[in-house]
Amino acid sequence: MFSKSFLQLATVATSLLSSVQSAPTSLRLGKRGVAFDYSNDKVRGVNLGGWFVLEPWITPSIFSEWADGGSVVDEYTYCQTLGTSEAESRLSSHWKSWITQDDFNQIAQIGLNHVRIPIGYWAVAPLQGDPYVQGQLAVLDQAITWARGAGLKVMLDLHGAPGSQNGFDNSGRYGAIDWQQGDTVSQTITAIKNLAQRYSGDTDVVTTIELLNEPLGSDLNLDEILSYYQSGYKTVQSGSSSFATTIHDAFEDIQTYWNGKFNAASGNQNAILDTHQYQVFSPSQVAMSPSAHVSAACALGPDLAGTDKWTIVGEWTGAQTDCAKWLNGLGKGARYDGTFPGSSYVASCSGKDVGTVQDLSTDDQNNIASFIDAQLDAYEEHTGWIFWTWRTESAPEWHLQNLTAAGLFSVSSRKYPGQCG
Ligand SMILES: *[C@@H]1O[C@H](CO)[C@@H](O)[C@H](O)[C@H]1NC(C)=O
Repeated sequence: MFSKSFLQLATVATSLLSSVQSAPTSLRLGKRGVAFDYSNDKVRGVNLGGWFVLEPWITPSIFSEWADGGSVVDEYTYCQTLGTSEAESRLSSHWKSWITQDDFNQIAQIGLNHVRIPIGYWAVAPLQGDPYVQGQLAVLDQAITWARGAGLKVMLDLHGAPGSQNGFDNSGRYGAIDWQQGDTVSQTITAIKNLAQRYSGDTDVVTTIELLNEPLGSDLNLDEILSYYQSGYKTVQSGSSSFATTIHDAFEDIQTYWNGKFNAASGNQNAILDTHQYQVFSPSQVAMSPSAHVSAACALGPDLAGTDKWTIVGEWTGAQTDCAKWLNGLGKGARYDGTFPGSSYVASCSGKDVGTVQDLSTDDQNNIASFIDAQLDAYEEHTGWIFWTWRTESAPEWHLQNLTAAGLFSVSSRKYPGQCG
């Protein structure tokens, strides 16, 4: 009796030991308690763009009064021009209607498991003198309840920092890059602290907070980005050790720059690296053939798999052109048809600038579907992906809801399987 149970115990102990020894580093050293298994499950998600941070190209109707040029080009100038009470009233109806509970349910029904929700610092830590208006957080609270009901995880993403970290309209303020000037970095930490504290009781849904969307590494001090990330990481983890902390790659190489940083060995067990992969923001990219786009997407698979931490492609698209109206900024043209400074004509943007997925040509639809399928295969070689974006008013190449309805996107079945070999 004794010897038999001793033997059983010894067998259990041996198999436990060998499973510990063979476990990958991230499992052995990983902190417990994140409510999504980023080591073993695939992130499949969609961004809820144009909701709490306005982007003129996603919702051009909101900016139609200034379509012929003028001083309004982003959320900052929108609020500044309308004034607080008018901006509040217009934006609060936008927040209540752009994305609803039904969207969360549809997102879950098509097989996705994450939403990434961009939010500006001004929602959680407004600065005196800013024109921005508030009220988003009540809707965000609601969104988290909807996500919980639908079984979705939420990545909260600080998309705009004081001063702007990239000068893109999607940071809230188009133009200068003044983040890292004055007190802006510590003000950003305050925003992260407020977010982490507010949602510290919701870690069953809010699995991760992204410290900053797309800081433009080439125009900023990279060492100061790293030190912001270190204090931001601590700030998020002190909100709850069940949060993972997401850091954007700042457009630096995900292996040569990022391997060795923010990994388990450096004490950042709960870090997710976020890289954004678009092939439409240079003249040479918009000139690529559909098969060149597919090859470039496929090449990213091994690149992602070679990183030493959880790495997601937190933004990507079906678009192979930059035709979407105002994609490059309100009133700006496109590289694809040569109307953007420094570009030359590839082909007409007709039907791709403004239109519906249904009305895209059959060729365009097929090219988008094959590009999407290649990206799904490549990005699932590591932690997974989050598509940009769920809905647009009129930009067909970017509209995941309609791409799905048209059969050009599916989590579970590929129209173009095996393109990455
Ligand atoms: C998306 O589909 C809806 C419903 O059919 C349609 O009204 C809308 O114009 C479509 N938008 C795009 C960009 O495809």
